[in-house]
Amino acid sequence: RIDQVVAWEALDSRGRPTVACRVTVSGGSSGRAVVPSGASTGSYEAVELRDGGHRYGGKGVRRAVEQVNTVLADAVRGLDTAEPDAVDLLLEELDGSSRYARLGGNAVLAVSVAAARAGATAAGMSLARWLHGPGALPLPMPMINVISGGAHAGRAIDVQDLLVIPLGAAGFTEALEWCARVREEARRLALAAGHGAAVLVADEGGLGVPLGGNAEALDLLVRAIESAGFTPGTDVAVAIDVAANQLWTGDGYELGSEGRTLATAELVDEIAGWVARHPVVSVEDPLHEDDWDGWAAGTRRLAGVQVIGDDLFATDPSRLAEGVRRGAANAVLVKVNQNGTLRGARGVLDDAQRAGWATVVSARSGDTEDDWLADLAVGWRAGQIKVGSVHRSERCAKWNRLLELEATEDTTFTNPWREAAV
Ligand code: PGA
Ligand code: ZN
Repeated sequence: RIDQVVAWEALDSRGRPTVACRVTVSGGSSGRAVVPSGASTGSYEAVELRDGGHRYGGKGVRRAVEQVNTVLADAVRGLDTAEPDAVDLLLEELDGSSRYARLGGNAVLAVSVAAARAGATAAGMSLARWLHGPGALPLPMPMINVISGGAHAGRAIDVQDLLVIPLGAAGFTEALEWCARVREEARRLALAAGHGAAVLVADEGGLGVPLGGNAEALDLLVRAIESAGFTPGTDVAVAIDVAANQLWTGDGYELGSEGRTLATAELVDEIAGWVARHPVVSVEDPLHEDDWDGWAAGTRRLAGVQVIGDDLFATDPSRLAEGVRRGAANAVLVKVNQNGTLRGARGVLDDAQRAGWATVVSARSGDTEDDWLADLAVGWRAGQIKVGSVHRSERCAKWNRLLELEATEDTTFTNPWREAAV
C-alpha cells in the first residue's frame, strides 16, 4: 500500500523544470518517475501546470509539485499498487476538470508512473514484465530521428522529423545499430556538403541543419541509407513527422525553408510526391489538428502508408474514436503526458489496436534520463517506439533500457512491416 509520495522540481533535456516524484509503499519498495514535456504541443493535450512569474521564465513547476505533495499524496495514500488501475482511477476522478487543468497533467502523470513503478518493484518485476504479464516480452520496432526541423531545430527545415525504420533488422540490437550507422553517414554527408552545424544536435538529437529544404533533406537521408550499405525501402525505410500544426498559419501551410505557402490539397500532393519518389512508409501529422476531412482524404490518398495521428488525437479516447469513425488515419502516436495517466494512455492504445490500427509509443522533445517509456512500449505491446535520435542521453536512456531488457529478459522483436508482408 502507498505510504509516502514526495515530489520535487527537476530539469528536462531543454533545461526547463519538470515534475519528479517518488512513491514508497509499505515494506519499503519505491518507484520514481520524471515526466517529459513537448515543444510542438497540440491544443488537445493534458494541461501542464506552470508557475508563471520570473523563475525559469515562468516555466517553474512548484505549484504542480505542491499539488503532488499535498492533494495527490493525501488522496492516494493507502491505495494498493498491486491494483494497477486503482491510483489512476482515483487521479482521474479527483481532477474532474477537462484535461487535468485543475491538478496539472504533469503532477498527475508523475504520480501515475511512480506508483506503477513502485507496484512493479514491490512485485519483484521489471515495469515491462509487470505491465505485460507472462510470456515473451515484445520489443518494439524503433523509429529513429536522423534529421530534425521545425520547432525542434530552429526551423532548419520545415518538416519536424525525418526518421528511419530498420525494416530488415532481425532484432532490436541490430535495429539500433543500423539506425546509428545511417545517422553517422547522414552527418558525414552533411559535413561534406559544407554544413558545419551537422556536428551539433537538435532537441531530439538529430541533425538540425538547413539542408536546402525538405525534399533535399529527404534526398540526403536516402543517400545516407545507401552509403551505410543498406537497400532503401527493404533494409531501412523512411518515416516523416510533418508536425503540420506548426506550419499552419490559419489559411495555409508555410514552408519557410522553401519560401512557399501551400493549401491543404497542395501539401498532401507534396507529401504524396515524397512518398512516390522515396521509400517513405510512415507519415505523421501531415495536416493540422482540426482538419478531420483533410486527414480522411489524405489517408485515402496515401494508401499503403502508415498515417499517424499525434496532435490530431493527443492520446485522447474520444478524439481517437472520432478518427476511427472517419478513417482519418490508420495509426496513433501514444504520448502518456498528452493523456495524463498510464491507464488513460493505455486505453487509447488498446482502442486503436482493436480498430486494427498501428500504435507507436513516443517520448517528448523535452525529455529526461528516465527510461520508463521503454518499459511501457514493451509491456503494452505497442509494436513501435519513437524516442528521437541516437544522440543525447535522454534519448539513449530509452534505447539502452530496451537493450537491457533484450539482454536480461525473455523477449521477441516486433516487426509490424514484416508481419504485414507475410
Ligand atoms: P514534441 O514533439 O514532444 O515537441 O510535441 C514530438 C512529436 O511531435 O512527435
Ligand atoms: Zn509528432
